Amino acid sequence: MKNLFAAIIFSSIAFSNVALAQECNQIIEGNDLLQFNMNEIRVSSTCSEVTITLMHVGKLPATIMGHNWVLTESQNYMDVATTSQISGPPNYLPNGDERIIAATDLIGGGEETSVTFDISNLDPAGDYTYLCTFPGHFVLMKGKFVII
Ligand code: CO
Repeated sequence: MKNLFAAIIFSSIAFSNVALAQECNQIIEGNDLLQFNMNEIRVSSTCSEVTITLMHVGKLPATIMGHNWVLTESQNYMDVATTSQISGPPNYLPNGDERIIAATDLIGGGEETSVTFDISNLDPAGDYTYLCTFPGHFVLMKGKFVII
């Protein structure tokens, strides 16, 4: 009886670890129509690190339809989009800009990239936005990053 009880506790712990691990690793797609396939990404505050994998499921090259995944506080989102545009190709990202919390490389159709970052310094009640910083894409390619 005691062993059975221990087995039940053990299996429920194992189950919750699986669920949390999934929340720490997210996959988002970008396409040739200036779209991300998600307008919100939720991660658990218990994640020691978060990995965002960006898959470009389109066919157009990065010079024409480049996508990246860039995280900022929502209040900085427009300024980061503008500054990134000015920064120019190939990455459309300002070097060393502290408003950028995390960023992937800029990729083209058929490519995939990821970024892993620590969320322990982020405020779970904070307001965060992710965007693509390729010129003009931020208008459609953006979403909320929520820590639950
Ligand atoms: Co883009």
